[in-house]
Amino acid sequence: MSFTGDNGLKKILYLTAESSPYSKVGGLGDVSGSLPPILADLYSAFFDIRMVMPFHKNMNTSNTNIKKLDELVVEYANTHEIIEVFQDQNAALPVYFLKSPSLSSTPPYTDNLQVDLIKYCLFSKAIHSFCDTINFLPDLYHANDWHTALAVYQTKTIAFKKNRKSPFSTILSIHNLPYMGNANRKILRKFGFRPSRNLSLPKWARDLPLPMGISRADQILTVSNGYAQELLTPEFGCGLHTYLQKKATKVAGILNGIDQTEWDPASDHFLAQNYTIDNLDQRMVNKKALFDKYFPGTSNKTPLLIWVGRLTGQKGADVLLDSLNMLLDQDWRCIILGTGDPALEKAIRTLANKVPEKIVGLAEFSNELAHKLYAGGDMIIMPSRYEPCGLSQMFAMRYGCLAVATATGGLKDTIKDYSSTENPDGFLFTAAKANDCSKSIALAMHVYQDNPGKWRQMQIDAMRKDFSWHRSAERYKAMYLKLLERHS
Ligand code: GLC
Repeated sequence: MSFTGDNGLKKILYLTAESSPYSKVGGLGDVSGSLPPILADLYSAFFDIRMVMPFHKNMNTSNTNIKKLDELVVEYANTHEIIEVFQDQNAALPVYFLKSPSLSSTPPYTDNLQVDLIKYCLFSKAIHSFCDTINFLPDLYHANDWHTALAVYQTKTIAFKKNRKSPFSTILSIHNLPYMGNANRKILRKFGFRPSRNLSLPKWARDLPLPMGISRADQILTVSNGYAQELLTPEFGCGLHTYLQKKATKVAGILNGIDQTEWDPASDHFLAQNYTIDNLDQRMVNKKALFDKYFPGTSNKTPLLIWVGRLTGQKGADVLLDSLNMLLDQDWRCIILGTGDPALEKAIRTLANKVPEKIVGLAEFSNELAHKLYAGGDMIIMPSRYEPCGLSQMFAMRYGCLAVATATGGLKDTIKDYSSTENPDGFLFTAAKANDCSKSIALAMHVYQDNPGKWRQMQIDAMRKDFSWHRSAERYKAMYLKLLERHS
């Protein structure tokens, strides 16, 4: 049974909790905001790709044209909820939003695990009726992370219940394995999701949304080859490695891309000075602008270290601070941009107060500042404990800011190490530990100051790298077609 429409296009529904520019919290928002439009554009002769997400509280609606299309009703437990269906008529592909009290009273994620679980249970449960409502019966679901994993789980259960083969193929993309959702059987039951009865899935995982989705997905995808391999190891598999090893043929990695138009030092309107590989000296104007603002009077020769991103244990913000502490006798400046764990924010304030002439902490989320830091910083420090892909190193490298990063997941796949490769474009260290990280920063600063020719070559190589989505798009197309064929 195939739901392919009259035009012969295969129908793909991309399900996500967040997407730029509507609601973006982290990397998933960047990916959802750029991958589906690229695929829709490149492969319009093959696929009809549409995206759906909750209509969150405080969604950014500027430059959109969001119109209500219809309503549907979802019944659960002894109650029901009316869900309004909206579409952004300005988007490059059909983008839909589901709005209701449980879906729309909060931002994408809150501190209340139960509130989030209810939101995404309802969202996943609503997907079938939503597809009926807009008359779009997908051939393939492409879900992301725990939030939409239950839609994958449910597709198969419902199909099996009706005692026929599921017409859907399903992909579940994992952007961050440790975030598996909340195990709350009561809430799951309320929405009709029965815990998995798959005996090879560890018991503790059978009522967690992400593993439930994984157990039913036709394809388990992640966002770099490196992380796809790491998922199968005890160190990174979060207790699911043995289960994932059994399903290893279904696990694959496709590296994320970045929007190389938005992130282009030649035309970036946030910068004090635009530049390219051909006039790289001009880049210094951006560094000087940062020094003038945050460290007036500092020589341009002093290396500028930057941090752009969430302050979490995953990203190793604590490792950065310990490393900086170990390097206090050397000449450098560091700007830390990001919010997150309050304890880490406090630790940054404490260190910045201790050495205000060296460190500035900016506890905010500012896209504009991020652009300025990539353009003016000499090196971005990324001591991630694990990194499914990582986008900051790609943005930074495109701007000639070299990465000093842990050799893990997507970082290892995108950065060529100074000490172990022939044409390096960054610095990798083995473990997210202050000892390793500080040595790597010291080495990078040494190359920056004592071997400017080499540094320049590394910058050029980093800036020349193709991080566009086009590079990965072919692999998505091939994967979609393979899965669709298998199910047709
Ligand atoms: C998550 C991961 C990050 C990845 C992003 C997009 O935020 O932590 O490594 O780049 O998702 O896939």
